[in-house]
Amino acid sequence: MSRLVRRALFAALAGALAGVPLLAAPADTIRARIAGYKQLGAAFKAVNDGLRGEPDLVKVRKAVGQIAGASAAQYKWYPRGSGPQPGVKTAAKVEIWSRGAQFRAGQDRFAGQAAALQRAAAGGDPVAIRAEARKLGATCKACHDAFRAD
Ligand code: HEC
Repeated sequence: MSRLVRRALFAALAGALAGVPLLAAPADTIRARIAGYKQLGAAFKAVNDGLRGEPDLVKVRKAVGQIAGASAAQYKWYPRGSGPQPGVKTAAKVEIWSRGAQFRAGQDRFAGQAAALQRAAAGGDPVAIRAEARKLGATCKACHDAFRAD
């Protein structure tokens, strides 16, 4: 192999390796985001299940803690470049980035209500917890209606 060919091959390989994280990053971010929402959905379901019939406050409080965790983590789920693009599956609408302030306000409402739910769960009154859980569900829906594709 001539030196020139070797050098060209090396350059191509280095370029390909350098390109891998650049190409994989948005897909990984989106996968992690969707996994985060799946956990959030499961935690929210656990809250509602735990409040049905004889309330299971241990189960409810554990799930509420997970929701609070997601409400903090969500702020990192939308880096620029993690929107809709060829080759990735995401229901995130481009408006998340083009109307960033409005999206952020939706995140804040969710986080604020998650904190209210956590306070109610600590208090232990199932009627109050149910009321806050219902309000939390409304913050999920409001964001989905505006920023998630069906
Ligand atoms: C500030 C906006 C916002 C809030 C608040 C929000 N979501 Fe979402 N949610 C989204 C977006 C955007 C997606 C699509 C993400 C993607 O596909 O990349 C999504 C996706 C999901 C998914 C689908 C995951 C999958 O399988 O594809 C579930 C489940 C979900 N959210 C549950 C919830 C629940 C439950 C709440 C409230 C407790 C909530 N979300 C609050 C914006 C939000």
